[in-house]
Amino acid sequence: MHIRTPRRATRLAVTAAAATALVLAGTLPATAANGKHPSLRDAAPADLVIGTAAAGGGHHLAQDYEGLEPGQSPFLHDQQYRRELKHEFSSLSPENQMKWEFIHPEQGRYDFAEADAIVKFARQHKQDVRGHTLLWHSQNPAWVEEGDFTAEELRAVLKDHIQTLVGRYKGQIDQWDVANEIFDEGGNLRTSENIWIRELGPGIIADAFRWAHEADPDAKLFFNDYNVEWKGPKSNAYYALIQDLLKQDVPVDGFSVQGHLSTQYGFPGDLRENLQRFDDLGLETAITELDVRMNVPEGQQPTESQLAQQADYYQQALEACLAVDDCNSFTIWGFTDRYSWVPVFFTGEGFANVMTEDYERKPAYYALRDTLLAAAGGK
Ligand code: XIL
Repeated sequence: MHIRTPRRATRLAVTAAAATALVLAGTLPATAANGKHPSLRDAAPADLVIGTAAAGGGHHLAQDYEGLEPGQSPFLHDQQYRRELKHEFSSLSPENQMKWEFIHPEQGRYDFAEADAIVKFARQHKQDVRGHTLLWHSQNPAWVEEGDFTAEELRAVLKDHIQTLVGRYKGQIDQWDVANEIFDEGGNLRTSENIWIRELGPGIIADAFRWAHEADPDAKLFFNDYNVEWKGPKSNAYYALIQDLLKQDVPVDGFSVQGHLSTQYGFPGDLRENLQRFDDLGLETAITELDVRMNVPEGQQPTESQLAQQADYYQQALEACLAVDDCNSFTIWGFTDRYSWVPVFFTGEGFANVMTEDYERKPAYYALRDTLLAAAGGK
């Protein structure tokens, strides 16, 4: 667990462009003493962790990856991937390995092996862990979704699950996405889709935070969602709900934006302002799943201008987080296009990560690194 000092106001005094100039002038370390380029985690200011999803479960199970047997997770079995993971990042998020269907596939049976492996790897390499996720409408096992439980039984099932997971990793998980994607685009609770809210009522959300807090009082407990990067009905709904919960002393610590962006839409220009209003409520904020996808015709590669636009989106997202005092965690949803979820879920889109399928660094990677060097240079 990292102890963080309050962010200094001077942090953005050096812009990314100025940092590049400083690097050229030899003022900032473009290369470390051993001649290697600094990694993202090395470049980052001391009060910001740089994270990635650790690939496994979910869509990976159905992919035919070169060098891996069917069903083997990249996190456990791709050595080059593991090298980059420890070298570049100071925080890990299990991409699927702590989701209900993966970790609790049958009633009474938990499968902790891959989650344990991530937590152990993180400890060995001095990385934070973001737990993901406890109350969600998606990726629940059939025994939950199709089970024949009374409300009282279902409540006990959820409480047991939350306290088992949060308790098992007590002291080793810094932030938990307790509730994921509970609102729709209009800012209404997903009452019909989300089994917990549908069967147990909206009060279950506060209970989920209370149960998690009981199991690990030091873990920071978050709401997490997509399409909440900007101010709008969905982020406004969180803003109202969180204020309400805080008034009732519900242990909510943070609000995080996933950041699944696409170059076909404009960058959410009020991201900083939006994070700031949650920071002003006394919350931590975070960017938890950033990727920037693009449309590329089948068989072709992204153009230079697409890569430049992608780099600009990554940089703007990072700058927004850097500008907000308690935005302490910045996570990208995978780092290599090799294992991205994007082509599986968004037809015709891809190339969303900061490294190519062959682990070559893209302009987006350098944009992040230079922006981090600039921010750290102010210290
Ligand atoms: C995605 C994973 O990347 C895939 O492997 C899986 O098949 C589906 O889920 N919002 C979230 C993440 O909170 O958990 C999702 O991850 C992406 C959208």
